[in-house]
Amino acid sequence: MRHPKVYDRILITEQQLKKITTDMAQQLNAVYADTPDCLALVILEGAKYFANDLLAHLDFPLEVEQMKASSYLGGTQSTGTVQLEENEDLPQKIKGKNILIIDDIYDTGRTLAKLTDWAKDCGAADVKTCILLEKEIPHDEKITIDFLGTPVEDAFVIGYGLDYNNQYRDLPFIAELSDEYIDE
Ligand code: IMP
Ligand code: MG
Repeated sequence: MRHPKVYDRILITEQQLKKITTDMAQQLNAVYADTPDCLALVILEGAKYFANDLLAHLDFPLEVEQMKASSYLGGTQSTGTVQLEENEDLPQKIKGKNILIIDDIYDTGRTLAKLTDWAKDCGAADVKTCILLEKEIPHDEKITIDFLGTPVEDAFVIGYGLDYNNQYRDLPFIAELSDEYIDE
């Protein structure tokens, strides 16, 4: 097993992640079966692994775009300022579409608040959120999560796309980052 001491506990196993993504895909397939002009907006870097697995199980027509959002400059504390890096032709692609934002985790909620506002400002016909994890904490920004994978306890988590200083995204499960590895 890789990275033996980086995590103390595995919170969500590989098998559980598989079930979460296939169950969520089924829900999405039912809800979006007759919806035209769908566009999935994958939020990088964290949602990449989750989105790949999820999108593979969707059976309705949709475009896929990606966008980079960041609020952590390394470390385990959000800076509080969310930066979106949009491709210049992205707003035009969002306009009039039914947008499904795919992200890894609802923590403070600032990223999702900024993203949903941004998509609406671009003229999206509809904006829904599809999120793998919701941290069980009081969120600074209240967001409607339309499709949620699973709640997760208040810990700094790594794996399945989630990183600490851009490492450990490759772990195939979600684990709690061990205190020994937090250097701040
Ligand atoms: P929020 O804006 O505080 O809700 O945080 C959103 C972003 O911060 C997520 O999309 C993640 O990329 C990152 N993040 C939040 N919590 C964690 C964590 O526990 N581990 C790794 N990344 C996290
Ligand atoms: Mg993120």
